[in-house]
Amino acid sequence: MNRPPTIEWKDEKVFMIDQTLLPGELKILEIADHRLIAEAIQSLTIRGAPAIGIAGAYGLVLAANQYGGNDIDEFTAQIQDAAKLLVSTRPTAVNLGWAIAKLLNKVKEKNDINEIRSLLLAEANSILEEDYISCRKMGRYGASLLPESATGLTHCNAGGLATGNYGTALGVIFSAVESGKNIKMYVDETRPLLQGARLTTWELQQADIDTILITDNMAGHVMANGNIDFVIVGADRIADNGDVANKIGTYSIAVLADYHKIPFYVAAPVSTIDFDTKTGDDIPIEERDPLEVTHGFGIPTAPDGTKVYSPAFDVTPNSLVTSIITDRGIFTAPYKSLRDKILD
Ligand code: MRU
Repeated sequence: MNRPPTIEWKDEKVFMIDQTLLPGELKILEIADHRLIAEAIQSLTIRGAPAIGIAGAYGLVLAANQYGGNDIDEFTAQIQDAAKLLVSTRPTAVNLGWAIAKLLNKVKEKNDINEIRSLLLAEANSILEEDYISCRKMGRYGASLLPESATGLTHCNAGGLATGNYGTALGVIFSAVESGKNIKMYVDETRPLLQGARLTTWELQQADIDTILITDNMAGHVMANGNIDFVIVGADRIADNGDVANKIGTYSIAVLADYHKIPFYVAAPVSTIDFDTKTGDDIPIEERDPLEVTHGFGIPTAPDGTKVYSPAFDVTPNSLVTSIITDRGIFTAPYKSLRDKILD
């Protein structure tokens, strides 16, 4: 891949691609304050479940480094406040809370400020490293499901921009193509923030993959015309029973895929599975600012005063999910309990 990393730690700072500016401008932000990391997550400057987990982890490292005193209680309170702030930015993707909890757990009984700082940084680096490895694994597992020559449909962006660098759903596509398969992709635009149009097509073009952009309301038509052999998406949180929360619109595509008897695959690392959430009904769904719908990218597209409902995610019931591709292998319906299948 011929572009800077989605996110990295360098010179005591976090460097990340500003995804709100793509595809027009490839700008790298340099961030040294955990509050700015929280803002970057909230504004979708960095987005995608695994990527916000990594950003949150580095945010906590910054908070630890920003403390200037030597009082362990004060330091601990600052870390706890920063953790709360970072986790509160986006409620649906479980990777954010998972990453922060992982860091806090590492330093639970420690009392030395500098030791805590280095343990937090080591853990954040290892979450990023793990992400590289697990995306490659998912890619290989998922590629084995795809025919030698096929056309897929994806929604939103589950590529290198949504992870440390390679991608979950797009990782499967990259891996299939790297292994010599002939894969062509349709990409949903993904209203209202156009992650499909702006980010997924950008990534697929860079990888030289034959890509066709459609608006979200065209998916049924292309399926009915026999143009789609498989659907593949990422996930923000998967419940223990295999229900999948992902970008708003995913559920509609899953229903369409079921109707047209097209396999519907979800690719996500095990860190996206929330074993403590029994079903999709228990997954909190983030609601976004109505202006993202009525004034997308600053252009008014509805009369002033229009009432808006803008959930950022929806839940696809497990019965519509053909397989879940993880870094620990492929799980196929009926899922019953992923905890029993994966952890036991
Ligand atoms: O609102 P976003 O852009 O953060 O939503 C992202 C998605 O829904 C992705 O499909 C999901 O996080 C999987 S990313 C590998």
